[in-house]
Amino acid sequence: MITQVALPREIHFGRGIRNRLVAALPPGPVLFIAGSHAGKRIREEVLPRLGSWPCRLICGVSPEPPLEEVEAALAAGRELGTVAVVGWGGGSAIDVAKSVAVLLPCPGSVADYFYGRSTIPGKGAFFAALPTTAGTGAELTSNAVLRDPATGIKQSLRGGDMFADLALIDPELVYDCPPPVIAASGFDALTQAIESFLSRRATQVSRLLAGQAAELLLSHLLPAYRNDRTKIDKVTEGSMLGAAAFGQSGLGAVHGLAHPIGSILHVPHGVCCAILLPTILHWNLEVAREPFAELANRLSGQSPEELIETIARLREELGLPSDFKGYRLAPEHYPFILANCRSGSMKCNPRELSDHDVTQILEELS
Ligand SMILES: [Fe+2]
Repeated sequence: MITQVALPREIHFGRGIRNRLVAALPPGPVLFIAGSHAGKRIREEVLPRLGSWPCRLICGVSPEPPLEEVEAALAAGRELGTVAVVGWGGGSAIDVAKSVAVLLPCPGSVADYFYGRSTIPGKGAFFAALPTTAGTGAELTSNAVLRDPATGIKQSLRGGDMFADLALIDPELVYDCPPPVIAASGFDALTQAIESFLSRRATQVSRLLAGQAAELLLSHLLPAYRNDRTKIDKVTEGSMLGAAAFGQSGLGAVHGLAHPIGSILHVPHGVCCAILLPTILHWNLEVAREPFAELANRLSGQSPEELIETIARLREELGLPSDFKGYRLAPEHYPFILANCRSGSMKCNPRELSDHDVTQILEELS
């Protein structure tokens, strides 16, 4: 078996590790792209240490970032003469920063690269990522999930070298997250770890990382949600390991479906994962029984069926919904979901799902 591992150039994890940022930046203008709550900390902790370097701080990236936000940030980055881009926030802020960093030297519009009309040639500006949620894994992956409001399409921008030069994963940045965000992003991380473990493209390395990630997330997510900081550290660590895993193995049908459903119904990504995960695991059970049994045994000494029940119970304890009724999923949405769910994630799912299967899953959850 051929195993290849691709990750950011440097990954640093630990409380207070964010303080390594300024020393690691190349000299020159810095563009910060931050989540809505990160601006204050950046102004207080980072900007005073930049000395005479010009900088610009863009705060408050939208969830499921639209192409025009990337376009606007890109224009600001070019005007500044940016040599380093820092993404500091949840997955959306990091994905916008990642896109801007790689597209800075590229001509044309963001849409040209989003739709594959143009190819990203290589490496852009220096890029550092500091996540403030424990879940998306955007700091470790080489794609950026963006949305085109004109078409409703939500998909990954890929190409060139989009890995961060530096990922600083500091659990202290996650302490400010409200419990519902810890729950949803943590469930995203748990889903990523489990889908990676069961993926058709799983390798020995990805399974090692995904198994450890799933163990940390399953056992520590509930106390982290109840604001136990040492457990938030564990969930952050689990999220990091899961992201390192799925970057190698790809994901599965939960993520294949979560993108079009999230896009059309505006369901937060982690909530979408939480709703879909137990149902998809039931569907995958028969074709992936062997790795599933290995994972279930490792996590809790349970059978796969019992593990699915444990996951559904955890979802309930975290206050997450079990179907899309509250989001009014209806048959009129199915054609869009069917047309846009055949992504790379879907191809990694252990069981091939026909349009008929997907429709049945959507009916179960409507
Ligand atoms: Fe995800």
